[in-house]
Amino acid sequence: MAARVIDIAKDEGLAVRTACELLSEGLPVAIPTETVYGLAADATNPAAVARIYETKGRPRFNPLICHVADLEMAERYGVFDPLTRKLAEAFWPGPLTLVVPLKAGCGIHPLATAGLDTVGLRVPRGFAAAVIRAFDRPLAAPSANTSGRISPTSAKHVAQDLGDKLSLILDGGASLVGVESTILRVEGDRLRLLRPGGVAAEDIEHLTGLRLERQDGPAPAIEAPGMLASHYAPSAAVRLDATDAQPGEALIRFGGRPTAGTETAAAVFDLSPGGDLAEAAMNLFDTLKRADAVGATRIAVAPVPDHGLGEAINDRLARAAAPRDN
Ligand code: TXA
Ligand code: MG
Repeated sequence: MAARVIDIAKDEGLAVRTACELLSEGLPVAIPTETVYGLAADATNPAAVARIYETKGRPRFNPLICHVADLEMAERYGVFDPLTRKLAEAFWPGPLTLVVPLKAGCGIHPLATAGLDTVGLRVPRGFAAAVIRAFDRPLAAPSANTSGRISPTSAKHVAQDLGDKLSLILDGGASLVGVESTILRVEGDRLRLLRPGGVAAEDIEHLTGLRLERQDGPAPAIEAPGMLASHYAPSAAVRLDATDAQPGEALIRFGGRPTAGTETAAAVFDLSPGGDLAEAAMNLFDTLKRADAVGATRIAVAPVPDHGLGEAINDRLARAAAPRDN
């Protein structure tokens, strides 16, 4: 049966109440956040968390981000040192996930953290925080898509992918950031960037005066086992750094730059004709899905600058283009 869809703009109270009812029954609910749509469930309820893994077809060794309403609530579940607290105060609510030591006996189920002694915590902006405040428990929420596929940035994306497996999708319109949160681990005075995302690395370095340490290549490390090389995969193959379009390819451009071969391309898109990286991030996943829907055998993507949000965009594009196991 198809999921019920509630438009938040029409009745926010109804949306929050209905979400809380289903969450209390241990059911996952698709909820919009400013980054991407999340498949949220009660992080303290093992059956509820298991349903997230089942619905997504996600490997269980992959820990989930736990979403909380504010820093005070975050401190019930994680241990914050002064530097981590400073980051939380500067960037929450917002697209930053902080990996911190898990507070013993805090109630988050080991299934949500994949048994690690750390937890990834995030305070989302807007509506999702209102649901968490009303529910008063942390919500484990990965992106609301089948594992390995492109993350959803609209209720329609969620409905197309998981609509038959869900009871409720809350529609909050298009996600404004469009790429997932930046994941950061603080270790003393070292900052490790586990995943580039919606907060630019430069902004974190500016606030702290510290250089971010990056993973070398796709991380096999336990800290971010979800960062599998192949991810965000459309059906079509993806060719990066394209300076032209070959006949029959769908072309994704950036910054309105003219590209050879557009006349014989199957379709032409531009992530941001004006060359704005925040706009490009917002449009990224929807554009990949639309390029895929053209039915071209390959999607060619022009180069995107690697600074600011470009780092997250290029990370997702590299994963979309990576060789696939299946
Ligand atoms: O923007 C986002 O972060 C979205 C929205 C829904 O909030 N969520 C999201 O979740 O992207 P997901 O499950 O697709 O990605 C979670 C990532 C995974 O790569 C996982 O390995 C990492 O976070 N992670 C979670 N807990 C961790 C921990 N304790 N240590 C290291 N990495 C962790
Ligand atoms: Mg995901």
